[in-house]
Amino acid sequence: MRTTHHYNITPSLHLSDIITYGDDRVNVIKEVNARNALWFAFGRDALITLAIYLRGMGVKKVLLPSYICDVAVLPFAGILQLDFYEVNPDLILTEELILSKLGDDVGLVLIVDYFGFEQPNKNRIINLCQSKGIRVLDDLAHKAPYDKVSESLTFNIPPAADYALYSLHKQLPIPDGSLLYVRNSDETQEISKLSNRPRGLYRSMRSTIKLLKQTYFGPGADGIPIVTSNSTTVSHEDPGDPWGRRARAEGYRISSIAKHLLKAYRLKTIFAHRCENYTTYLENIQTSNSFIKIRPFISRNDMPYMFPLYLRSVNTNIKLRLKTLLPGYFWPRLYLPIKQDISKYSRTIDLADNVFLLSIQQDLDKQKILSVAELFNKIIAG
Ligand SMILES: Cc1ncc(COP(=O)(O)O)c(C=O)c1O
Repeated sequence: MRTTHHYNITPSLHLSDIITYGDDRVNVIKEVNARNALWFAFGRDALITLAIYLRGMGVKKVLLPSYICDVAVLPFAGILQLDFYEVNPDLILTEELILSKLGDDVGLVLIVDYFGFEQPNKNRIINLCQSKGIRVLDDLAHKAPYDKVSESLTFNIPPAADYALYSLHKQLPIPDGSLLYVRNSDETQEISKLSNRPRGLYRSMRSTIKLLKQTYFGPGADGIPIVTSNSTTVSHEDPGDPWGRRARAEGYRISSIAKHLLKAYRLKTIFAHRCENYTTYLENIQTSNSFIKIRPFISRNDMPYMFPLYLRSVNTNIKLRLKTLLPGYFWPRLYLPIKQDISKYSRTIDLADNVFLLSIQQDLDKQKILSVAELFNKIIAG
């Protein structure tokens, strides 16, 4: 992910505002071993473990949405064959888009609740795949398993899909922490036996990537940085991040520091701030011929991750100014740009170039959000 921070964003929310040790404490640790839930350091660790398991089960190919971050693609590379289905500009997935790519060899389909908003056709897509004996992974990496009624994280949600993935470090100020639900209990057991092993495979994956890049771009293509992170919190790829390394040192499982933080955070405050920040953008970002809000409302159970905007046409001038002046992101891109057959992935390239994201992290205050919105409005007004 490319970030441009020309703003000096100072946290307005103090740690004491989000950490509590009183009766508010959310006891998630007893649920850490919730049935059929496996904890990992990062979502990518869960994905690579699942890919290894599925390959052992005879699965050959995974079908991914074409709008997806390279971090979610790489764990499959070199283990399963990859194919991509198109995604609509409003980021809504349909049965038709998926059906058109369901060949005999597809064994897993991945769907994403982009930026924390539930896919409206999810159940139909799951039913379609399962009726064909194809497994579905509901990638909820952008969403928190937060229950608005009890105001706590809840780890006992059985997924409708075969697998569901959460990446908690994206919504919460924790250094790592991801959860994979496996609907079938026998499979949970089998996968848990594999979950300590990805370390070596990550290394061999890097050589696979190197090989792939050389195949696509020829020798010397090695220098292209392709593994990026889009975490809004602490990322293990940040150089010199001690927590991240610590998480890695714990065998790709959730680190104990993350577990303790999960227990200590006042989740209600964190989520309320994220929703508030989203709403402030909704009210203050002006749409125009150039930009539309991808999600122009927020409903009760939404837990937004970022504020997405769709740039209708590729206006290089606007793009450049947004990139250099705003703390925002263009995200994601395919892990290997497809050069040979552009038409096959045209929608992907279009989306990757046109979706612009504004951060809604809990530690941004209203003033900061308003000044970003004001600057944004000025830029698009010309
Ligand atoms: C859709 C999606 N799936 C999976 C992941 C991987 O999650 P993690 O950052 O926890 O490895 C990401 C984020 O990078 C993502 O955006």
